[in-house]
Amino acid sequence: MKKIKDVTAIGPASSANLGSGFDCFAIALDNLYDTVKITKSKNPGITIKNLGLKTGIPNDPKEHTGGIVAINIIKEFNLQGINMTVKKGVTPGKGLGSSAATAAAVTVGMNKLFSLKLTNEEKLKFAASGEVASAGISHADNVAGSLFGGFVVINSSTCEDIVSFSPPKNLHVCIGIPKVKPVAKKTGKARKLIPSKVKFTDSVSNVSYAAMMVAGFSTGNKRLIGKSMNDNIVEPARFSTIPNYYKLKSELLKIGALGVTISGAGPAVISFLDNKTSIPKIRQCFKKQFKSAGYDSSVILTKIGKGARVIN
Ligand code: HSE
Repeated sequence: MKKIKDVTAIGPASSANLGSGFDCFAIALDNLYDTVKITKSKNPGITIKNLGLKTGIPNDPKEHTGGIVAINIIKEFNLQGINMTVKKGVTPGKGLGSSAATAAAVTVGMNKLFSLKLTNEEKLKFAASGEVASAGISHADNVAGSLFGGFVVINSSTCEDIVSFSPPKNLHVCIGIPKVKPVAKKTGKARKLIPSKVKFTDSVSNVSYAAMMVAGFSTGNKRLIGKSMNDNIVEPARFSTIPNYYKLKSELLKIGALGVTISGAGPAVISFLDNKTSIPKIRQCFKKQFKSAGYDSSVILTKIGKGARVIN
């Protein structure tokens, strides 16, 4: 068999939580991805070159999401060194799984380059180890979305059970991103806002929303998916970090969004729609509500997409 010298892999953006699925739900986002080229090197260790968006992402592998993943894989399998070029397509700090996109691409790229035959659980473990660079802990929901695509559910305690559902047809995703001041280590800070104890009644309602979300995806019921994008625990703890959040959510729902919630740790806000005709109104609503709080914004229209893959 011919030995491969290099691979190029892509890792899509993702949106985690979807309301009640904190750390255990995520979707992959279509058409928005990081590209990573990995080349075997004669020298030990890892070099990283960052291209694409001007992100200020460090080149030191120990501080780089993809670098940490590569360090851990090299150590585990006693591999030779690599050179890595990362082209960022997913802007960091927006709640769109930017670090996970890189981590997922590096994981599938290394798997192919060194013929590692990693299981899904192993891929998840290695990719999640890269999240330490941005969140301070290795939460696995974004990387699960980026790695496996579709709507992904994982057991956040063990990272051992991974189930991915294909999205129903014509489920459109519209995401508004307010131009708020970037916050360093944003996800770690947003996690500190979450209470360590919650009311029993809130946990009961969150379990109901989460169960209905899974039921919605498993039966392809878009209305049920949208109605389940709610959360009585994390959303109330984080809403104040997003300009005009509750007004924006209620206006989007009034004009036809199926459901609205914070994308990951924010500040992006994700909405699901079941037809294209409402897109211009939804876009306008995002712009208007963020503007009324004093912020410009951008709006992305996408769909639930496929997971990370080697393209070359
Ligand atoms: N579940 C993580 C969090 C996702 O909300 O902190 C971060 O994108």
